[in-house]
Amino acid sequence: MSRSERPPLRVLPTTLWEYPSQHYDWRDAEGRLHTMQGDKDYAGATPSWVIWQLLMRYTRETDRVVDPFCGSGTTIDVCRSLGRPVKGFDLAPRRPDILKADARKLPLEDQSVDFVFMDPPYSTHIDYSDDPGCIGKLDAGGDDGGRAYYAAMTKAIAEGHRVLKNRRYFALYVSDSWKKKKGAPAGSGAGTFMPIGFELFAIMRKHFVPVDIITVVRQNQKLDKNNWRKTAVEENFYLRGFNYLFIMKKVDDVVQGVGAHGTTPSRPSR
Ligand SMILES: C[S@@+](CC[C@H](N)C(=O)[O-])C[C@H]1O[C@@H](n2cnc3c(N)ncnc32)[C@H](O)[C@@H]1O
Repeated sequence: MSRSERPPLRVLPTTLWEYPSQHYDWRDAEGRLHTMQGDKDYAGATPSWVIWQLLMRYTRETDRVVDPFCGSGTTIDVCRSLGRPVKGFDLAPRRPDILKADARKLPLEDQSVDFVFMDPPYSTHIDYSDDPGCIGKLDAGGDDGGRAYYAAMTKAIAEGHRVLKNRRYFALYVSDSWKKKKGAPAGSGAGTFMPIGFELFAIMRKHFVPVDIITVVRQNQKLDKNNWRKTAVEENFYLRGFNYLFIMKKVDDVVQGVGAHGTTPSRPSR
């Protein structure tokens, strides 16, 4: 069945981002309609319009974009729709245009790219691959207090900083997480909350100047189908209703107080 074309995207004016679908429609130079970026059946795919919004504000046409956790290739497809040169890496590449690499050790020169976008695993909630290096195997609420997960993410963020040119932008899309305590009585709400967003923000702050924090509202219809909303109320836990989108800037030519000292340099222009 044919459907009507979705309206063109517009750059959003506020820090609360919401869009009714995961993907957007666009037409290429030959007039062909493209209705999907990445793979709609891939668990954990980034909403493509989120990446579109970022590229419209923080890149220009010739800017080189990199996604070290490329998954189903959403960033690559969004870059194609906007004419940005792009490289996507993943430990478990699903398409030939995604290169196999660990986000902690990218095959890229220092300061060689203009924008880094990452949507990493948020603890262990999705089984991405059997690769032992998969960060999705590390529990942010595990017995080690999440040390292994945050150590891995510290390396991936530092690598993003290494490959990024000075005065260019870095964005990280992430959600907090919660897991029920094993054997907890129904309705007790006993479990472990993992404030992954704030923890990763603190790690990024050591390398970057914060530009802004966006709340991206999640409209997951699968939750309704699987009765999850009802269960969350009955069992006294929260479903994740939003993702953070942290936007940072590499500013290595200004002496920074780096958070802990409470001073932030004024935001320099490009
Ligand atoms: C949330 S998904 C990314 C989704 C992607 N942005 C998309 O729209 O399809 C996280 C990805 O990180 C990958 N991954 C996990 N550990 C990794 C590592 N150490 N280096 C590179 N990729 C890794 C997983 O294989 C998975 O594809």
